[in-house]
Amino acid sequence: MPIKVSAPKSVLLVCLGNICRSPTAEEVLRQKAAVEGMSLTVDSAGTGDWHIGKHPDDRAIAHAKAYGYAISKLVARQVQPDDFYQFDLILAMDKQNLQDLQAIKDRLINENPEQSETLAKLVLFSEEDPIHAGEDVPDPYYGGDEAFERCIAHIESGANAWIESWKSC
Ligand code: 4NP
Repeated sequence: MPIKVSAPKSVLLVCLGNICRSPTAEEVLRQKAAVEGMSLTVDSAGTGDWHIGKHPDDRAIAHAKAYGYAISKLVARQVQPDDFYQFDLILAMDKQNLQDLQAIKDRLINENPEQSETLAKLVLFSEEDPIHAGEDVPDPYYGGDEAFERCIAHIESGANAWIESWKSC
């Protein structure tokens, strides 16, 4: 079910490793926002810590490049509690990421209930996408070329849907 999220000033894209889906989505959203003249700060992070400091996966870099997105210089980092204070909106690439992020957010609310309204809104990346509404962006890490191809098509579709929804805000 599409939800109304008012146009944010800053968005954080989050997946598991921050080397395949979320860095790709970061650059796709950044470019699409720029084309529309939207002022949007975009970043990405992973819920896991295995790839901190690394550049994106070579396969993700190659597929993104084929679609016109340069992601080779991005550097992986792990999501931090402070991200919930720094960003307006956090988009989770799949439902497991969403659950892990919700656990962080719940903890922050428990620690500081009066600040709950100031924390980033947390939503599934595909929530606004009429083609993939409510679906995960499938993790391509253990897949082949096809998985990466599906991944970037899915990300473009989701990013287009967010941009369209923000244009009408
Ligand atoms: P991502 O893909 O979450 O789209 O960056 C993955 C990258 C690495 C691993 C899993 C998923 N890993 O298990 O190392």
